[in-house]
Amino acid sequence: MDGNGRWALKRGLPRFEGHNRGADSVREVTRACRRLGVRALTLYAFSEQNWNRPVAEVASLMALLRRYLLEERAEIMENDIRLTTIGRTSRLPDSVADPLQELIRDSAGNRSMDLCLALSYGGQEEIGDAVRRLMHQVARGELDPDSVDEERIGRLLWSAHLPPLDLLIRTSGELRLSNFMLWQAAYSELFFTKTLWPDFGEDDLKEALDAFRHRERRFGRTDEQVEVLLQAND
Ligand code: FPP
Repeated sequence: MDGNGRWALKRGLPRFEGHNRGADSVREVTRACRRLGVRALTLYAFSEQNWNRPVAEVASLMALLRRYLLEERAEIMENDIRLTTIGRTSRLPDSVADPLQELIRDSAGNRSMDLCLALSYGGQEEIGDAVRRLMHQVARGELDPDSVDEERIGRLLWSAHLPPLDLLIRTSGELRLSNFMLWQAAYSELFFTKTLWPDFGEDDLKEALDAFRHRERRFGRTDEQVEVLLQAND
């Protein structure tokens, strides 16, 4: 969800106003995903590296997250949305962690859509964490190193509860993944747009979904093999 700062700067506003408007886009895009039948939406709301931002900006983002969790709670519950997180959420202040844990707990039985917040998240950190857990299992004699395959690693990732990542959208014209879902993005389709996140709404989402629909996903196979598979599934 990149471009909040630039959105504000262009208007002579403090960066916080960009994040504020970014939270409006979060609401609009989540509503649209729920309506369009998107199974899971993961939002990169705060990276592990974002802790290095100025103290005042981090504090304003934490205040915004708290407000979001309190204000959106009713709509999330009414719409049968399960809220989860990926990331080192133990680093979050209690003012965010408390309403977050409460909503995670209360929405755990919801089934219509997964809304996952990446908070204090880093893709390398996620993989590193899985590797450390595997090493401990091996050290305790509970695991044969030869049985470690990609599926087992995937099951240890913070995102293990989510379906495969189909489409990754990055706003604001940057052409990087910036440590977001590195493992999961192996075969996801990438959609880059110059639109700044506070300007990103339902129409932009539909454009990204439409582009996704026209992509041929080969997963290493040839064109011809994909055709045969598609016909067999019809
Ligand atoms: C990156 O833009 C954005 C962030 C670091 C924060 C994203 C947070 C929100 C959209 C709002 C809060 C989230 C929720 C779920 C309510 P940037 O500040 O790096 O923008 P820039 O590259 O233009 O400076």
